[in-house]
Amino acid sequence: MIPLANMYVLSHYEVRPLTERREQVPTEVEVSLDLGKTRGRVRLTSSGIHLPGGILLTWEDAEHIATHENVCYKVTREGIRALQLFSPLTGRVVALYPTGRAPTLTLSGIPMHRIKGTDPWRDTAAKIRSARPHGRVLDTCMGLGYTAIQAAARADVVLTVELDPAVIALARENPWSADLFALPNIHVLQADIFDLIQGLPNAWFSVVIHDPPMFSLAGHLYGREFYAQIHRVLRPRGRLFHYIGSPEKKMARSVTRGVMQRLRDVGFEVKEVPRAFGVVGVKR
Ligand SMILES: C[S@@+](CC[C@H](N)C(=O)[O-])C[C@H]1O[C@@H](n2cnc3c(N)ncnc32)[C@H](O)[C@@H]1O
Repeated sequence: MIPLANMYVLSHYEVRPLTERREQVPTEVEVSLDLGKTRGRVRLTSSGIHLPGGILLTWEDAEHIATHENVCYKVTREGIRALQLFSPLTGRVVALYPTGRAPTLTLSGIPMHRIKGTDPWRDTAAKIRSARPHGRVLDTCMGLGYTAIQAAARADVVLTVELDPAVIALARENPWSADLFALPNIHVLQADIFDLIQGLPNAWFSVVIHDPPMFSLAGHLYGREFYAQIHRVLRPRGRLFHYIGSPEKKMARSVTRGVMQRLRDVGFEVKEVPRAFGVVGVKR
């Protein structure tokens, strides 16, 4: 299936093999035009790469994409645009970072998913296996929405919350986030989860997925006060999956110890799940 023309998103992974064939024109090549989700056919000529729908990616623009490895590019009739934005809310640059498959989100250059030896979609699948979503799910930190999308395949409804409007804008341009805005059982809210959760009803959710930025970027989302709110909105025996990060890293080890202690303090039974780089809590 060929992606919609307004969803052509390319990175160096797709474009470099094409620029390497520049001397072989004219020719046709099969390639993904949506970061590996689907594949389509393009025609290479002396003027550039002809995408379905009459869009021309000039060789100059293709060379630009092929040599910029830290960002994905939207390709339209008007040319190419790097998928990165300055966030007035946080003062950070947010960007779509290519991996050869589902891209990750970077905040000031820091990736928000694991990408070494895995990819963000598989990283998310490990989180979902531990979270076991069902019933009503609260996904506290939307990011590119991979946790929300994969949870929605199993749950009745997913409420997903994102602080930064720039991240939501970026997710709208990411082919791998499209279901976030298309599935009827996902509700996207732009808000600070720390404030929003205080207005959510008691015992409403079966599962909470908590995948915050690292401790040094969002310490309050690792605090006792916030954990007590998660406990309150979960139904009895409700389940929390809290992503923390690489357990072999010294920093993550001490964060994990503190997280487990505070979760116990507010009323969770907790267990570490190293294969998903996080902690599971069950509401006592
Ligand atoms: C690690 S990423 C989440 C990745 C996400 N689970 C996914 O599947 O793509 C963390 C996200 O939390 C957002 N965030 C940070 N503070 C927040 C807050 N107080 N409330 C809601 N979202 C927040 C960040 O902007 C970032 O997009």
